[in-house]
Amino acid sequence: MTSMIASDLPLPLIGRGKVRDIYAVGEDRVLLLTTDRISAFDVVMGETIPMKGAVLTQISAFWFNELEGVVPHHMISADTDAIIGEVPALDVHRATLEGRAMVCKRTRVFPIECVIRGYLAGSAWKEYDAQGTLAGEKLQPGLLESGKLEPAIFSPATKAETGHDENITIAQMRQSVGEEVAYTLESMTRAVYTLGEKLARDRGIIIADTKFEFGRDADGRIILIDEVMTPDSSRFWAADVYKPGRPQPSFDKQPLRDYLDAERRAGRWNGDAPPPPLPDSVVDATSKRYLEAYRRVTGSELKID
Ligand SMILES: Nc1ncnc2c1ncn2[C@@H]1O[C@H](COP(=O)(O)OP(=O)(O)OP(=O)(O)O)[C@@H](O)[C@H]1O
Ligand SMILES: [Mg+2]
Repeated sequence: MTSMIASDLPLPLIGRGKVRDIYAVGEDRVLLLTTDRISAFDVVMGETIPMKGAVLTQISAFWFNELEGVVPHHMISADTDAIIGEVPALDVHRATLEGRAMVCKRTRVFPIECVIRGYLAGSAWKEYDAQGTLAGEKLQPGLLESGKLEPAIFSPATKAETGHDENITIAQMRQSVGEEVAYTLESMTRAVYTLGEKLARDRGIIIADTKFEFGRDADGRIILIDEVMTPDSSRFWAADVYKPGRPQPSFDKQPLRDYLDAERRAGRWNGDAPPPPLPDSVVDATSKRYLEAYRRVTGSELKID
């Protein structure tokens, strides 16, 4: 399977995100194509990670299948033959699609990142450590870094076009999308995370926090869209080495982060783009971690021709 930095399919291009290329399929569907690009410390690397795009697409597909009957979602198919069956013009682009493409219902996207945190990490830990709050709300005292939050905390953010997403209060979210939609998005977020966190934990992955997006489909229904509980939209930790009271290694990106940290300490990188070139050993180790994340979450090997 080839590694991919960007795609060029004969379909109308709606946009390119940091990781995904988005195409229109007719009026009411989209094709999401996940590339093998990777970022760390907010910088996109020059190298691609073999299989990463397929891992992200197929982990999302796994969750959408698990969520059947729990919440409505956008996935139509992530199977290459089925996609080519729907869009025969893509037949000559089979190698590009293989594993990493998903055809979905097109929606009008709500401008909210629905973040849910089951463990206290990253920026949430920093805020709590400094002020005892999360998104401005007081939390109980004495919580540890990486400690479990019970119940999980819903902390929405705006979907910024550029730069960093900004945390907002639930009151601000209600003002933006209305009371009823805000309630629905929070309920769906909790339902999906509760199911996913438990299943993944039983298989050795802690999903410490994650981010969902929702949109309204042609029938006016609110559905779960985008990617779901992947290592890119979530913090994945290995359950077997989990220990609260300190930061946890990232299940997928730790080899890359360790390498970049060492380059920084050695004075060979200032932390901004362009990043240093990655040795094959780091690319390899990272690819293996993504495949292992797939194997643990789904319980089977990712097989792509
Ligand atoms: N069913 C859908 N209908 C319409 N738009 C969708 C649908 N599913 C996902 N999208 C949009 O497709 C885009 C996916 O691109 P991508 O994830 O690469 O970029 P991003 O979200 O802007 O960046 P990042 O995920 O790195 O923050 C997002 O803007 C998302 O809102
Ligand atoms: Mg995204």
